[in-house]
Amino acid sequence: MVHQKWGLAAKIEGVENHAPSRVQPKSMHIEQSRPHACTALPSPVIPLFHRKQFATLSHTFFSPPSIPHPAQTQEGNPTYIPPIDSCTSPSPTSLSLLTMAFHSHALFSLLTLVFLIPTLTVTHAQLSENYYEQTCPKFHETVHHVVVEKQIATPTTAAAVLRLFFHDCVLEGCDASLLIASNSFNKAERDAEINAAIPGDGFDIITRIKTALELQCPGIVSCSDILAAAARNLINMVGGPHYTLLFGRKDGLVSRADRTEGHYAKASMTVSELINLFASINLSVQDLVALSGAHTIGFSHCSEFANRIFKFSPTSEIDPALNRIYAEGLRKLCANHTTNPGMSAFNDVMTPGKFDNLYFQNLQRGLGLLATDHALGTDPRTKPFVDLYATNQAKFFEDFAQAIQRVSLMNVKTGKQGEVRRRCDAFNDLKT
Ligand code: HEM
Repeated sequence: MVHQKWGLAAKIEGVENHAPSRVQPKSMHIEQSRPHACTALPSPVIPLFHRKQFATLSHTFFSPPSIPHPAQTQEGNPTYIPPIDSCTSPSPTSLSLLTMAFHSHALFSLLTLVFLIPTLTVTHAQLSENYYEQTCPKFHETVHHVVVEKQIATPTTAAAVLRLFFHDCVLEGCDASLLIASNSFNKAERDAEINAAIPGDGFDIITRIKTALELQCPGIVSCSDILAAAARNLINMVGGPHYTLLFGRKDGLVSRADRTEGHYAKASMTVSELINLFASINLSVQDLVALSGAHTIGFSHCSEFANRIFKFSPTSEIDPALNRIYAEGLRKLCANHTTNPGMSAFNDVMTPGKFDNLYFQNLQRGLGLLATDHALGTDPRTKPFVDLYATNQAKFFEDFAQAIQRVSLMNVKTGKQGEVRRRCDAFNDLKT
């Protein structure tokens, strides 16, 4: 049950007293009496929303931005894909329409990105594209079904899962170690401070898929494969590229919060630090920029960029690199962020729920949210790629797809290096 107040406040039952990071909203249904959100909502200059509010107003909450750009129109952008979370989609038939759109877009992307397949074949001989064909024939169908349902109900899911997937892969490899829950004997990866902000919906969707698959083919499909497939499908569903994945990962046997230090990028890092961090996991400068394009969706908490909008320097309250109107909007949004730490802003203020290249165009206009986002647009090592992707979405999609494919194969466990977990949040054998 959702209690909706128009304006900036929204309350979801069962959520109010919890940090947004692990929120599992009981229900995301909009009250019947509520007017259609597209027409009822004002169109603010720059749409900035609280994470919970975004989840609540799941269907339609992308107000047209005040700075028009050709890439936001079908005419101006040959690769335009209608956003799933747009005002046009939430009809009674939305599920089937979305499924059709998803399939046709996937087919188109499959054709255009088919050249990516050969890059995957050699090194991971034990993995294959059709790994579950015999043992769990409805694997893809099940993932697809749950993903579509969950993303429509809770549009914050795609970004949550993408971040979850990336963070899982960069530590211990893509082995679902980030899904393990802590117990009395082990503080797990997901309870490290850096992962605390990953929304509960990211974990929830994996549990849903795993549960459905365990009913069909018990003990067959690993949580790490589910996570990889869900991230891929969700990226595609919100407008991003489709790419091929190999399956057959085993789930890891280690998940420790004390191993996280130094493995994750932080908004306080310099570009040199980011480049070195990515190089340490065999990702190039171009990969860094392409993958950072993931910030075309999702949110950041005010605490992650507060130093850019409050007391920036002795001479300037606001980071002068920020667009002035944008900065003022962020200051209003985050005014109480110390007492209300859940306050968050869209990473891509222009098309926050759509996977596109507006993130890169934003960086050129002082609309990058995190200091690291902005720095990518100015540093001479990364700027050329930002400029390239800002003008060429197809190239961004191609490079993002190639890079995330490589991420999906990081330190993958096969055979006895891992196991197929019975449930994704616990090892099969509990060790003390
Ligand atoms: C360049 C280095 C990066 C830095 C410094 C960085 C930092 C951050 C920070 C601070 C947040 C906000 C977290 C919060 O407050 O909840 C965030 C969100 C996010 N990041 Fe990154 N990130 C980087 C690269 C990446 C990459 C490579 C990916 C995926 C391929 C990614 C995916 C995301 C997503 C999807 C979100 C939104 C999460 C949500 O809405 O739940 N990031 N990132």
